[in-house]
Amino acid sequence: MNLVKIKDKSFNLFISNEEIKKEILRVANQLNEDLKDKNPLFLGILNGAFMFAGELFQHLNIDCEISFLKISSYSGTSTTGKIKQLIGFNEDIKDRTVIILEDIVDTGHTIDYLVKLLKEKEPKEILITTLLYKPDKYEYKDKYKINYCCFNIPNEFIIGYGLDYDGYARNLDSIYKIKE
Ligand code: IMP
Ligand code: MG
Repeated sequence: MNLVKIKDKSFNLFISNEEIKKEILRVANQLNEDLKDKNPLFLGILNGAFMFAGELFQHLNIDCEISFLKISSYSGTSTTGKIKQLIGFNEDIKDRTVIILEDIVDTGHTIDYLVKLLKEKEPKEILITTLLYKPDKYEYKDKYKINYCCFNIPNEFIIGYGLDYDGYARNLDSIYKIKE
């Protein structure tokens, strides 16, 4: 499938499922190497990161746990900047290595919100892992480093592999870019 139509918009194939899996495996291997003695807790950010978290987690071969946090900030094709926590998590993260798993880092407002929220619980360290990253949009370069990333992408709206347009298209196994 090279072209998909969701509601009023058309999207072109941008990153195939094969390429996605290859990059996730690369990042998983890096995490296996870097975190082997750290007993980390992975924290998947719902809804968008569910496919990424599922694929990545299968390739981890270290002692680790996973939990999920549900927040929302996007409406249509742009971020609202206002973040709401919809489902929290109960794990005690004091003195633990926590790895945020995001589908995409855009402005970084979500990351800013999450890091502040997690810091209150006094983890040992917080690392950021994302499937996609829009460096031209990110506003927190001096504040939070993106530790692990599968793809740097231009500043364009994309869907698929967990990412949605108004709730739809999360089921696509590849990533599609909005057609101008
Ligand atoms: P940020 O707070 O601006 O970094 O936005 C982060 C969240 O907005 C992500 O977790 C996504 O859920 C959503 N988002 C950002 N860019 C896109 C996109 O291109 N397509 C779909 N969702 C996006
Ligand atoms: Mg998200």
